Amino acid sequence: MDKNLLKAEIEYINDILDKNLPAADESYGKISEAMRYSVLNGGKRLRAIMLNEAYKMFSDGLEYEKVIVHPFITAIECIHGYSLVHDDLPAMDNDVLRRGKPTTHVAFGHAMGVLAGDALLNYAFEKISHIVSETYNNIYALRVLKALNVLSVKAGYSGMIGGQVLDTTEKYKDDLVTSGFEEVEGTGFTAEELNKLKFILRIYELKTSGLFEAALMCGAILGGASADEVELLETAGYALGIAFQIEDDILDITSNAETLGKSVNTDEKNDKDTVVRLFGMDKAKALVDLYTNKAVDCLKQTGKNAEFLCELFESLVYRRL
Ligand code: IPE
Ligand code: IPE
Ligand code: MG
Ligand code: MG
Ligand code: MG
Repeated sequence: MDKNLLKAEIEYINDILDKNLPAADESYGKISEAMRYSVLNGGKRLRAIMLNEAYKMFSDGLEYEKVIVHPFITAIECIHGYSLVHDDLPAMDNDVLRRGKPTTHVAFGHAMGVLAGDALLNYAFEKISHIVSETYNNIYALRVLKALNVLSVKAGYSGMIGGQVLDTTEKYKDDLVTSGFEEVEGTGFTAEELNKLKFILRIYELKTSGLFEAALMCGAILGGASADEVELLETAGYALGIAFQIEDDILDITSNAETLGKSVNTDEKNDKDTVVRLFGMDKAKALVDLYTNKAVDCLKQTGKNAEFLCELFESLVYRRL
């Protein structure tokens, strides 16, 4: 992966976020300051990059990029940022360090942790719905609406939030029906292990793949991709999200707070069932490979130029960024 290209893209995204978030003033107390703190405090910007690159894969002209893509880039990083702010709250993972700094509720107080998350989620949809004023009479209006629907569903109760609920409040039960995830069959798990694994993968699919799928699908829809192409990108996001979350769980055990910018060993602290905690490091790593390959395959199947995204996928799950 060309580090300079990636660095330039991260700077491009950070500049968009800086310009598009509300200015920090005290009109409404500290809310705009807390919103900016939660989003502009570093971060790998993966979802924004995925959205932008998926748009470029399909778009035949960049004329409307600023009008339609920048608000979506802002929206997806606001939603991701809010999900982290709430994920770190004492009622959830109870973490004090994020992106190398005190978490939002530590820096601004618990009430502001809740409210800054709420405000970021709302702001995402404020930015997107505003696009209509500039595109109401052209082909992009319909694309924007379609993408808006995808983003709302993937971030919502049956997507990312649903995954956070299962992650926070539910444990595997024997009678739980788990379907899908055929790709893990025949990879050395017993029938009983497979059920447990599939339950965890279901949580990962929702809590992490949800926003990855939304990022790739929104970019593709805005760029004018066909329904089949959007579906391929959805599967790519699904597979990448799972690989990424398993790697995140591995790093929670093997890395350190200085490198990651967030607390480590939190899964043990919170007694979370993760793939690595239940099945061990070797199996977890093999699944990271399996899902990363699946994601890259899907991108290649589009027949478009997906070189940058493929390289990003491969480098980011192994965190060589
Ligand atoms: C953290 O996501 C939450 C997970 C899904 C594991 P990232 O690792 O993308 O977080 P930032 O945006 O780079 O801080
Ligand atoms: C992230 O899972 C889930 C979200 C959707 C926010 P984690 O709880 O493992 O993420 P980190 O490790 O706190 O970043
Ligand atoms: Mg969590
Ligand atoms: Mg967490
Ligand atoms: Mg984690």
